[in-house]
Amino acid sequence: MTPTEFKRRRNQLMKMVGKGNIAILSSASEQTRNRDVDYIFRQDSDFLYLTGFNEPDAVLVLIPGRKHGEYILFCREKDPEQETWHGRRAGQQGAIEDFAADDSFPIDDIDDILPGMLEGRQKVFHFMGRYADFDQQLMVWVNQIKARSRSGAHVPYEYVSLDHLLHDMRLYKSRSEISLMKKAAKISVAAHKRAMQQCKPGKYEYSIEAEYNHEFCLNNAQHAYPPIVGSGENGCILHYTENSDQLKDGDLLLIDAGCEVQGYASDITRTFPVNGHFSPAQRELYELVLQAQKAAINKVKPGNHWNDPHNAAVRVITKGLIELKLLKGTLAKLIKDQAYKRFYMHRTGHWLGLDVHDVGDYKLGEQWRVLEPGMVLTVEPGLYIPANSKGVNRKWWGIGIRIEDDVLVTVKGHEVLSAGLPSSVDEVEALMAG
Ligand code: GLY
Ligand code: MN
Ligand code: MN
Repeated sequence: MTPTEFKRRRNQLMKMVGKGNIAILSSASEQTRNRDVDYIFRQDSDFLYLTGFNEPDAVLVLIPGRKHGEYILFCREKDPEQETWHGRRAGQQGAIEDFAADDSFPIDDIDDILPGMLEGRQKVFHFMGRYADFDQQLMVWVNQIKARSRSGAHVPYEYVSLDHLLHDMRLYKSRSEISLMKKAAKISVAAHKRAMQQCKPGKYEYSIEAEYNHEFCLNNAQHAYPPIVGSGENGCILHYTENSDQLKDGDLLLIDAGCEVQGYASDITRTFPVNGHFSPAQRELYELVLQAQKAAINKVKPGNHWNDPHNAAVRVITKGLIELKLLKGTLAKLIKDQAYKRFYMHRTGHWLGLDVHDVGDYKLGEQWRVLEPGMVLTVEPGLYIPANSKGVNRKWWGIGIRIEDDVLVTVKGHEVLSAGLPSSVDEVEALMAG
């Protein structure tokens, strides 16, 4: 991502914030894992989107039209001893030279400086409710100005959530964002292929997970979310992450895993037979999910609305469940009653970007959002039939299937970013055999 792109984003946001107003965003902070060990740091996606700055304890201030600089970055000071222990810091000079800030101050001085920047502004744009400590601190700064109101200090009087403005920008991916998402998808595709090739009865879910760690790490990519590696009945637990069971001959293995590259996520699921061959029952359900996914992907094009792919998937799945005698009744009524939800209880997708469940409104007012070029979404229908399901033929018990791909809306229709990964029964079996 070039400095120009970050600048373009800040300028676009500042235009919406408007002169006389101020936007303030906090970075993420380090989180304790246990005792004195922290989780690996992950920057707040909005902060990353506007700055590219990957350190904790930073605050971004945007003041459109300010003569002495519109873009101010508070961050940690350089500190040779701390840096020896915990890693390099940009410091104020780095914030200006490498991250194009107009001005930068030590984060420890923010209480002295920020009230002066807030004073006299009308509206304050920020992410209310995201970081409780930061919300509270903002009120402390505002109250400091209030305390001086009798000597003429003007206190901001309108507080506006940044969500809508910034998240609408993030929904439309630029050329360079799309190229990072393609890169993420490509690495995840390679990892899924490795997993299919390495899979065999007797191994463990975690040893297949290791294939993803290997491929992601080798490419300087990180998991975009905890990987789900669920064999047999575990595939019916939507957010299964224990990944601890042994792989049994005759079971399916559902893997939902994707990496992020420079913060941009991929999110891919494949379900394949542990022994390399789908049983007749597994195959029937698998083909149905695949058919639903194809119908849904075909609905991804400009002018269609957000819910069109979901409606298409629901229709195919319900029809298939009637044919397989898993549901009884007429198609229209079963869809209306959402009878499919017993076996297909989630939606067909979500926006994808810097967050795996990315930001952006799904409805504008009462209307589903219309798809436009540059939007990226997942298409991920599934079927889940837990063991001991009442009134369900035993042959379906313990089968959990999801097929998930990442799809970019283009001017002409769509592009499947994860298209390099086989999904048909024949292709999957061939890859596993090879
Ligand atoms: N990996 C999370 C999801 O598919 O939504
Ligand atoms: Mn997923
Ligand atoms: Mn997903």
